[in-house]
Amino acid sequence: MAKDIDWGNLGFGYMKTDYRYVSEYKNGKWDDGAITADENIVLNECACVLQYAQTCFEGLKAYRTKDNKVVCFRPDLNAKRMADTAKRLEMPPFPEERFLDAVKKVVKANIEWVPPYGSGASLYIRPYMFGSNAVMGVKPATEYQFRVFVSPVGPYFKGGAKPITLRIPDFDRAAPRGTGHVKAGLNYAMSLHAIVDAHNNGFNENMYLDSKTRTKVEETGGANIIFVTKDNEIVTPKSSTILPSITRRSLMYVAEHYLGLKATEREIYAEELNDFKECALCGTAAVLSPVGKINDHGKEILLPSGMEKSGEITQKLYDTLTGIQMGRLEPPKGWIFEIN
Ligand code: PLP
Ligand code: COI
Repeated sequence: MAKDIDWGNLGFGYMKTDYRYVSEYKNGKWDDGAITADENIVLNECACVLQYAQTCFEGLKAYRTKDNKVVCFRPDLNAKRMADTAKRLEMPPFPEERFLDAVKKVVKANIEWVPPYGSGASLYIRPYMFGSNAVMGVKPATEYQFRVFVSPVGPYFKGGAKPITLRIPDFDRAAPRGTGHVKAGLNYAMSLHAIVDAHNNGFNENMYLDSKTRTKVEETGGANIIFVTKDNEIVTPKSSTILPSITRRSLMYVAEHYLGLKATEREIYAEELNDFKECALCGTAAVLSPVGKINDHGKEILLPSGMEKSGEITQKLYDTLTGIQMGRLEPPKGWIFEIN
């Protein structure tokens, strides 16, 4: 039985569910891990995560399909990306097989929180990891916790499929040889001032440029970006300082193999923004959120698809991707991970 929740009106927020997963790393190894009902964490005041932000996370979703299965979308790629992030932050990677097992256990334990098919909501899954013991000198922790909690969510941007407005900020997100390509908590701490400032100025999100030349489009604080050219080609920024979005990689495949469109990853200059007919943000939380307007220091770039609805190609990509996720379309091999 699904919980009695107004699924259709959920936003993207935290809701406490019944169970979460915890595994602790001590003396050079991960313990067996367990499901717990306790959502609180008690930490030493000098824990490495609190002083030096040694923390990282992942984000994926569980969906209820057309035939009432509960599935996740390509969780193996989240497991791999989290291991890559952990290595960059000098944290012990959580074994990828165990990551998948933990996701399965937490979703199963909270099965009543998986929104019904067709409700527009899904169960967001948040695996995360942090340095937990006291560390005073700047060095990695020796003890860690890996945890997974879940929360039912609706659309990331209020208004669902209504196009949003981006602005090109004067803030940077990631340094050339920094941590922009991994999912470190510190990247998001970096973006908090910029997002508050964007909201205060009436914009939904920041479209960051590369911090070295400030000429090339990178991504937003929480999603990658795709563009559609006037010839219906999908283009997306190629950069070593953006997060390798699983949604974006999947969309590029879907564009080529399901829709017969050319899909190219290349450097994209801010100067080119006027040439595109559609733009959208893509990510687990954002899914595929259409962009209607981009503000470049007062100069407005209006996407021809407008502020009322998704562009035609964006809509096709959205329908195909969500069709695969919700079991309406045949998935490529290995994309769908069954929970029950
Ligand atoms: N870029 C950033 C900075 C993100 O936080 C996310 C969210 O995970 C993404 C891109 C999208 O990645 P994915 O499609 O794997 O969720
Ligand atoms: C996700 O899409 O899963 C993310 O982690 C983005 C986050 C900013 C909500």
